[in-house]
Amino acid sequence: MAKQSASSIVVLKVIETQRAAFRATPNAKRETPTFAEPESAVKLLAVTPRTEAEQFEHIKTRVFRRSDDAVREVADLIANLVHGRQMENRTAVLGLATGSTPVKLYRQLIRRHREDGLSFRNVITFNLDEYYGLSPEHPESYHNFMRVQLFDHIDIPPENVHVPDGLVDRGKVFEYCQKYEELITRAGGIDIQILGIGRTGHIGFNEPGSGIDSRTRMVALDRLTRRDAARDFRGESNVPEYAITMGVGTILEAREIILLAWGESKAAVLRAAIEGPETDSVPASFLQRHPQCQCFLDETAAGDLMRFRTPWKVGPVQWTPELTRKAVAWLAGSLKKPVLRLRDEDYTENGLATLLVEIGAAYGLNIRIFNELQHTITGWPGGKPNADDSHRPVPAHPAHKRILVFSPEPLDAELGMAGTLNRLVNQGHEVTLVYVTSGNLGVPDREARMAVSLLNEIQAANNLGALAKELDNKTAYDEDSAALRRFKGLIRKAEARASSQILGLADVQFLDLPFYERGRYRQFRPDDGDVAAVVRLCESIQPHQIYLTGAGADPSSVAGIVYRLVTEALDSPARHSNAGTSQIWLYSSGERPWLPHEINMAVPLSPAELAVKLDSLYHHRSQRSQTPFIESGESWQHAERTNRSTAQQYDQLGLAEYEAIEAFRLLAGAKR
Ligand code: GLP
Repeated sequence: MAKQSASSIVVLKVIETQRAAFRATPNAKRETPTFAEPESAVKLLAVTPRTEAEQFEHIKTRVFRRSDDAVREVADLIANLVHGRQMENRTAVLGLATGSTPVKLYRQLIRRHREDGLSFRNVITFNLDEYYGLSPEHPESYHNFMRVQLFDHIDIPPENVHVPDGLVDRGKVFEYCQKYEELITRAGGIDIQILGIGRTGHIGFNEPGSGIDSRTRMVALDRLTRRDAARDFRGESNVPEYAITMGVGTILEAREIILLAWGESKAAVLRAAIEGPETDSVPASFLQRHPQCQCFLDETAAGDLMRFRTPWKVGPVQWTPELTRKAVAWLAGSLKKPVLRLRDEDYTENGLATLLVEIGAAYGLNIRIFNELQHTITGWPGGKPNADDSHRPVPAHPAHKRILVFSPEPLDAELGMAGTLNRLVNQGHEVTLVYVTSGNLGVPDREARMAVSLLNEIQAANNLGALAKELDNKTAYDEDSAALRRFKGLIRKAEARASSQILGLADVQFLDLPFYERGRYRQFRPDDGDVAAVVRLCESIQPHQIYLTGAGADPSSVAGIVYRLVTEALDSPARHSNAGTSQIWLYSSGERPWLPHEINMAVPLSPAELAVKLDSLYHHRSQRSQTPFIESGESWQHAERTNRSTAQQYDQLGLAEYEAIEAFRLLAGAKR
């Protein structure tokens, strides 16, 4: 009985929150848009009622441990629709998206076509958008993207495929866009619309400011969107300024909508879209209006939702040691008080009374958490020889460790842990820094031109004439020849050597994994050969400690792929010889500074050590203005800000005040 009334309160609360959100919408039209009636016997999304944990979420959201699991379910939904319609002798209409996010879904659909015989003969597709000014043959056009990622590998009739035309005459854009909408209507409307989300909160290319009733049209791209696309176009200035996109209103007319998102770079905008008010400053928030919309997220993308960020505000929780630490650090952080000065009232007035009931009064709890945080700080990331290590993050034995550090591309490890690398070397450990890929895709032509002209001057090589010619004749986004990629790889390797020498590393290794050399951004296809190379490396080094990054990265990025390869290699049956590896540490890939409660080892940097780190970072000069995910400035400025901000957060919690801190999370292995 009591239970029932509790859940009806929750339902009322949800309705009230939704109403409040609706009232808070300043400019949106008040009438709810009309949705196409459910069309067929094939019911696609069973949108189940929200649970208590989801009470603050205005869009039904499902969270999966890995993006692969989410993608399999979405592929099932699509396969059921397509198959169901085949039985009825009818067509199925899909709305498709581009970007890294849906790539895995498309691979899954291709697999089903090849292995399970799923046919797309009765499928009609409409893509959300296209860059304005790009021909369908342009390597970065969405036409080309869709061909490479999906259409070339399935049996969809070419006349059933629709992607907006990026070359339509300016004067005819309006008319063209109306026609695009008519084609959707004539096809019977979209059955399932697949969406990704941009960091501005855009769906399609509906940037902030797009209204709920916007239709297919030409739009100007946001600065952040162009910056995120800069790597695909080899420089922000090459990214088109305009695009043609379906409108928010067009998207909302689909019968079912599935928004996919992976990786921590999307966490903040997803929180705004799912838990915030409907607002045109986050166009994805308008999906809250759609009765058949669901978000499929992986755990890192969902990390900022209330049920993960502050689960105690959402319902009863089990006070595990990790959650307790998180709650206390959160309370201190939000009240801007050192941990040791938190009072009982601070806990009770901020929704944490149950913590006191279960764990005891503030005094003891504060001391316990203070000590836990204190024990994450160490100047001995390889362990302190002959010291009592019962409260240290790293065991003292063996005093001299073999340490293997993976850097997905040159610069990643330096950004995340240059200071720590420097310390590990100075403290006498045998450190192997491995650059898993050469990073040649990240070298802009201007850098290659500079190096070619320098070498030409000293006549050091014979084939430079051909390279110079290629650089003269190519446009920025033409595919590089193998020779030019090798040359660009040499540039990055030289930078990486210079940078690691500053950190005291006498030698570094370049693994040059095949998946990278075969591919390009968003189109990497790692296979068993890549895993085998990592297994061989681990076997030859037999490390006591491993450092790795990319756990929260987009799974299709280089860092995300390398993370998966290394963890797979360590789990592989051939791994017995790595059994001596006691710890695997994760360093941050810099998309978001970690909060103190998420950190298991904090390595402080003195002002002089920070200067050495920055010096090593500056040597990656080809990477100026190349790093995505950073809203302003250079990646090294961002790394410095992150390291300083971690130190400030420790200080604010009442711990010692350092210049900067590099943060690590324990991925596996006992702390001792
Ligand atoms: C582009 C596309 C969007 C996509 C977004 C996110 O701007 N127009 O449809 O959702 O990027 O891209 P990604 O999936 O690569 O993060």
